[in-house]
Amino acid sequence: MAASQKLKMEPRMSATANQSALIANQLRDDPRLAEAKRLILEAVAEHSSKIDEIKPPNPLLADDFQTLLDAFGSIRGGNIYFPYLSSGIGNGPFVELADGSVKLDFITGIGVHGFGHSHPFVVEAGVDAATSDTVMQGNLQQNVKSYDIFKLLTEIACESGAGLKNCIISTSGAMANENSLKIAFQKHHPANRVIAFEHCFAGRTLVLSQITDKPQNRVGLPDTIEVDYIPFLDPNDPDGSTERSVTRLKEHIARHPGKHANLWMELVQGEGGYYAGSHEFFKSLIDVAHEHDIAVIADEIQSFCRTTRPFAFQHFGLDKMVDLVTLGKISQVCATLYTDEYQPAPGLISQTFTASSWAIVAAQRMVKGLIENGNFGEDGRNVQLNNHFAKGLKAIDDKYPDCVSGPYGIGGMVAFTPFNGEFEVAKDMVNRMFHKGLMSFFAGRDPTRVRFLIPIGIVEEKHIDLACGIIEDCVKEMS
Ligand SMILES: Cc1ncc(COP(=O)(O)O)c(C=O)c1O
Repeated sequence: MAASQKLKMEPRMSATANQSALIANQLRDDPRLAEAKRLILEAVAEHSSKIDEIKPPNPLLADDFQTLLDAFGSIRGGNIYFPYLSSGIGNGPFVELADGSVKLDFITGIGVHGFGHSHPFVVEAGVDAATSDTVMQGNLQQNVKSYDIFKLLTEIACESGAGLKNCIISTSGAMANENSLKIAFQKHHPANRVIAFEHCFAGRTLVLSQITDKPQNRVGLPDTIEVDYIPFLDPNDPDGSTERSVTRLKEHIARHPGKHANLWMELVQGEGGYYAGSHEFFKSLIDVAHEHDIAVIADEIQSFCRTTRPFAFQHFGLDKMVDLVTLGKISQVCATLYTDEYQPAPGLISQTFTASSWAIVAAQRMVKGLIENGNFGEDGRNVQLNNHFAKGLKAIDDKYPDCVSGPYGIGGMVAFTPFNGEFEVAKDMVNRMFHKGLMSFFAGRDPTRVRFLIPIGIVEEKHIDLACGIIEDCVKEMS
């Protein structure tokens, strides 16, 4: 059993007599705070429990809601994608919108709300953070809880032999990725090129939009770095596609000797369409990269906590092969982990904000919560949920052939290809599902797929069955 499966919630600091000299701990133990917290949690739970099924919008709120959406759209320079503005309360996978509707949230802000909406321990983390001294923490001002999350993430990352002992947290996946690139470039200076997978998504900064293999995301932007692409694993031809990727990698290295600083690996392609690689595929590429002194960076911003292990590099058995790893979304804080060899020089990495105090407290509870909830392991919750969802999708496909085809993703990342996989068809399906109360999004091109980032900490099989019922209704309408 992985050590992470045995982790137990520990008190933040040892309860020695010395600790009670701290006024912060006296506040923490003040019975008035305990009572206030109990009342807050009781009130939230009481109201939240009224939200337990999908509901259409309330016609009485329709005009106000539309006015709000229009005003919001005009300030932000374009409408928000879905008419989604949460009212600020939900219950597990259900969320109430400001139009009075209730949606089954199976996309969770693109993978952020792993414990759904209004979960008691997330609310409690907010109260704990609100009674600490600052809203934000940063490189010049961190409190002891920052240390706790650094420690937790590095301990979990290293539990099967990886050397990722160092950690920096940041406020976005893009920033975590930027930090990893800066560290790798500095170490391999003057190498200035990146090798990445076709169809990868790395983020939207000037540099990351250059790595992200989506030309429309960099229209009008100046070129910042040189990127050479290699194909991802083709599940229909694993051996052949591995050979082709390795050949392409070697060609790029031969064409630009000594110029590649890193091999950028999104181990499970997210925006690219929910395709997972394999141990053999990644190892074949990493061996070549390391022979040429090229850093290996795993981008786990989306896949973190969604496979059989907390990290996808652990799931794929790459523990001793990755030099830097980034994580985000479900972890609430984003982070860059790296080995001792990659220690950056002073001045390279620093941020006013590393995360909000709430994000830091919630991060610990959520990551530990997933471990204690049994989400990991060969037969852990992530696998069980994926199997159940895949079974439901397969049953729809059996009934309506070629309407809902696999592969159905991995763990907490579930997807299917609707009909012929044309973008407009997938978009139509996602929109229909939204109006019937199920939230999803699309991913990939040729085919475009419908994807879900389910709230793996709390979702139950009955919610997946409800989602499959809606998907089937849409398929019926569209066939
Ligand atoms: C694999 C991957 N990397 C990086 C990012 C960028 O993260 P953020 O949007 O938090 O900047 C994302 C976001 O979807 C992602 O999926």
